[in-house]
Amino acid sequence: MGGLVRLVATLALVACGGDKNPAIDAAVTPDVDAVVDALTPDGNPLTPETLAGTGLCTNAACTTFAADVLEYEPRFQLWSDTASKRRWISLPAGTTIDTTDMDYWKFPVGTKLWKEFTRDGVRVETRYIVKLLADDDAVGAWFYTTYQWNAAQNATTEVDIAGVMNANGTNHDIPQRTDCRECHEALVPSRVLGVGAISLDYTPANSALLDLEDLITTGKLSAPPTAGTAGARFPLPGTDVDRTALGYLHANCGHCHNPTSTNFGTTPVDYRLRVGTLATVAGTPAYASSVNVNGSPVTENGTTYTKIVIPGQPQNSIMMIRFLSSLAVRKMPQRGSEMADPDGQAALTAWINAL
Ligand code: HEC
Ligand code: HEC
Repeated sequence: MGGLVRLVATLALVACGGDKNPAIDAAVTPDVDAVVDALTPDGNPLTPETLAGTGLCTNAACTTFAADVLEYEPRFQLWSDTASKRRWISLPAGTTIDTTDMDYWKFPVGTKLWKEFTRDGVRVETRYIVKLLADDDAVGAWFYTTYQWNAAQNATTEVDIAGVMNANGTNHDIPQRTDCRECHEALVPSRVLGVGAISLDYTPANSALLDLEDLITTGKLSAPPTAGTAGARFPLPGTDVDRTALGYLHANCGHCHNPTSTNFGTTPVDYRLRVGTLATVAGTPAYASSVNVNGSPVTENGTTYTKIVIPGQPQNSIMMIRFLSSLAVRKMPQRGSEMADPDGQAALTAWINAL
C-alpha cells in the first residue's frame, strides 16, 4: 500500500476508535506508523508490497529462500495460540551486530527479520521488520509490517494497518501495526526480541539453524562473548523447573516487562533475563521483582490478592491470577494471545510450587 493511502487510513482508524484496547494503546503514539509511512516513499525497496519483494525468498510462494537469509529458532519462544512459526534474519553483507552491551544488541541498518505463522495447517501471515535508520530511537528507524497469504498459499498481500481478525478461516488474528510497536518498541534500543545472547545460546536439534555460536564464528558480533563454551555461554541458574519458568517469562513477558519498557515506571515487574543476572535464581530480575513482592491488589471472585508471587501458592499469586484471568484488562500476556498456554501455565505453576 502506498504511503499516502496508509496515512489517510490511519487517521480514519484513529478517528473512529478502531483500536482493540484503547486503554493500552493510549501508551503509544497512535499514528506513528502513518508518520513512518509518510517518511518512507513508495517504491522503497526495503518496504515492498509483497513478501517476495522483501528479499526473503526467490519465488512468490516463498518455498525457496534467498542465499543471505538465515533461519533460526529462539530457545524460549512466544506462545501464539498453537500457531507454528518459522523465523529468519538477514544482515547486510560485511556488517556486524553491535554487541557492546550483550543484553541490548544494536543491529546494522538494513537488518531484516521475518516470522511466518501457520495455524491449523494454513500459512496465514509472514511478519517483516527492517531497520531503516542508524539511530534506533529516531522516528521511523524500525519499520514493521505483515503480509497475508492467499487461499492458494502461493502469493501475499501487505496487510492494512488495522490487521485481520480470524484470518484465512482460522482463529489467528493478524495484529494491527500499532501492536507490533507495543511489543517490539518496548525493548530499547534493540527492538528485535528473539535474536539475542540468551535466546540463541543453545544448540538447536536442527544444526542448520543459526545459533549464537554461528554468529560468533562467522564474525557477526562486534564484541563476541568469551566466557563459557558453545551452547552454554550464559547458562540459566537453578533446576530445570527454574530454567523453564525463567525462559518462559523471558520470551512471553519480558518484552513488555523490562526496565526499558514505558510501563516499567508504574509496573516494575521485570521478566527479561540479562547476562549479568544469572548467578542465582534469587538474583534474577523475575524473582527479585515478584517473589514476596506486593503488586497492585487484584480482586477476583470476591478474593483480593496482593502479592505477585507467593512461594508454594500459585493459586494466591497475582502472576497466576492474571495469567488465567478471563478479563481482557487483567489477563497476561496482554497481547498476541487469546488461548491459555497449557505449557506456560504448567511451567509457572511448577516454579511457584517449588520456590
Ligand atoms: C504480543 C507481543 C508481540 C506483538 C503484538 C508482535 N510481536 Fe513480533 N515478536 C514478539 C516476540 C516476543 C518475539 C520473539 C519471540 C519469538 O519469536 O517467539 C517476536 C518476534 C518477531 C520477529 C522475529 C524477530 C524478533 O524480533 O525476534 C518478527 C519479524 C516480528 N516479531 C514481527 C512482528 C510484526 C511485524 C508485528 C506486527 C504485525 C509483531 N511482530 C507483533 C512479540 C510480539
Ligand atoms: C503487551 C505487553 C504485556 C505483556 C506481553 C505482558 N504484560 Fe504484564 N502488564 C502489562 C501492563 C501494561 C501492565 C500494567 C497494567 C495492568 O495492571 O494491567 C501489566 C501488569 C502486570 C502485572 C501486575 C504487576 C503489579 O505490580 O501488580 C503482572 C504480575 C504481570 N503484568 C505479569 C505478566 C506476565 C507473567 C506476563 C507473561 C505471561 C505478562 N505480564 C505479559 C503489559 C504486558
